[in-house]
Amino acid sequence: MDREGVSWVSTMDALPGIGHACGHNLIGISGVAVALAAKAAIENLNIDGKVILLGTPAEEGGLGKVLLYEKGAHDEMDVCLMCHPGPGPRHSIDLNSSLAISHVTVEYEGHTAHAGLCPWEGQNALDAAVLAYNNVSLLRQQIKPTHRVQGVFEGKYWNPGFIPDHAIMRWLVRAPTTAEMEDTRKRIIACFELVFNIDNPLIKRRHPFFRGAAIASGCKVKVTVGSTCNEIRQNKALGDELADVVLKRYGAMDDNCDIMGASTDFGNISYVMPGLHPSFSIPTVPGGGNHTPGFTEAARSEVSHDACLVVSKALAAVGMRVLTDETFFHNVKDAFEEDKKQRG
Ligand SMILES: *[C@@H]1O[C@H](CO)[C@@H](O)[C@H](O)[C@H]1NC(C)=O
Ligand SMILES: *[C@@H]1O[C@H](CO)[C@@H](O)[C@H](O)[C@H]1NC(C)=O
Ligand SMILES: *[C@@H]1O[C@H](CO)[C@@H](O)[C@H](O)[C@H]1NC(C)=O
Repeated sequence: MDREGVSWVSTMDALPGIGHACGHNLIGISGVAVALAAKAAIENLNIDGKVILLGTPAEEGGLGKVLLYEKGAHDEMDVCLMCHPGPGPRHSIDLNSSLAISHVTVEYEGHTAHAGLCPWEGQNALDAAVLAYNNVSLLRQQIKPTHRVQGVFEGKYWNPGFIPDHAIMRWLVRAPTTAEMEDTRKRIIACFELVFNIDNPLIKRRHPFFRGAAIASGCKVKVTVGSTCNEIRQNKALGDELADVVLKRYGAMDDNCDIMGASTDFGNISYVMPGLHPSFSIPTVPGGGNHTPGFTEAARSEVSHDACLVVSKALAAVGMRVLTDETFFHNVKDAFEEDKKQRG
């Protein structure tokens, strides 16, 4: 039989200003714990197989796992496993997915002018951005509650004494599947383009109101679709095995660990090989979820480390089953192919 390589991933990056507010310190030690346990088992029990511990930097916007994949880091792996902490209050483990995500950048280019002397000579790029922002805010009511759209403004040398001639907005569009995300992204991009691109024939012919808005701002718009990441496809066979181990040894799985609105570069890995990415909750204070300073505090507590080791032990058991049970490994591969068919 072809010998399998099982890998565990140690994400390890932190966030500017708030440190390990996403708990990647716990993911880091989880991979190390599992790899050490697996190595010991392989040596003591003479098991044929390969264990790989892959340290993956730059998860937060840097696409570390995707870049490593492109450079061949996963070539000897058949299965890839990791875990991620989410907010408590109590301990739980679940297999919910994450959201597919796309970055979109919008730039408005106008014309600057003295805000007191001759503001009528200006084309206000900040106004254009504010209008588009509000348009997206209205659209939010007509998107599904499982979708997420967030944007921020960026400008250089902004000053109330000048009409801003350049504005940037950075947006993240998320949805439960890549296909749904692409649909919502289209609707969001329409909010940026129609109003402000005065050369758009739709505006010229059909929408006198919008044409007015376009002329009022008079700005040019440039929309750039940046990187995208898929949602996580949790491998069903690996997931069932994890649930079984957790149930037998550590109590129930439940859906209490709510980080399914987040996104991860692991999504793309789960599209190219069987993967599993359980979430486990650590005790947090109310409002102290991922990406807050409260989570940084929670992620360093001893009880969080204990919670991390529970899911790590379960992941080690799942990985060892891949290495030692050929039928199970085939089920994992079949589940992957089945899932691929389903998503088309
Ligand atoms: C808002 O966006 C829609 C597209 O979703 C577009 O048709 C419309 O022109 C925009 N309206 C305003 C007032 O920004
Ligand atoms: C992730 O995979 C999708 C295809 O499934 C691809 O379109 C996207 O560009 C990938 N993301 C990155 C960052 O390579
Ligand atoms: C999360 O997973 C649990 C099972 O682990 C399931 O009962 C629940 O419906 C899932 N939640 C969402 C939002 O998909």
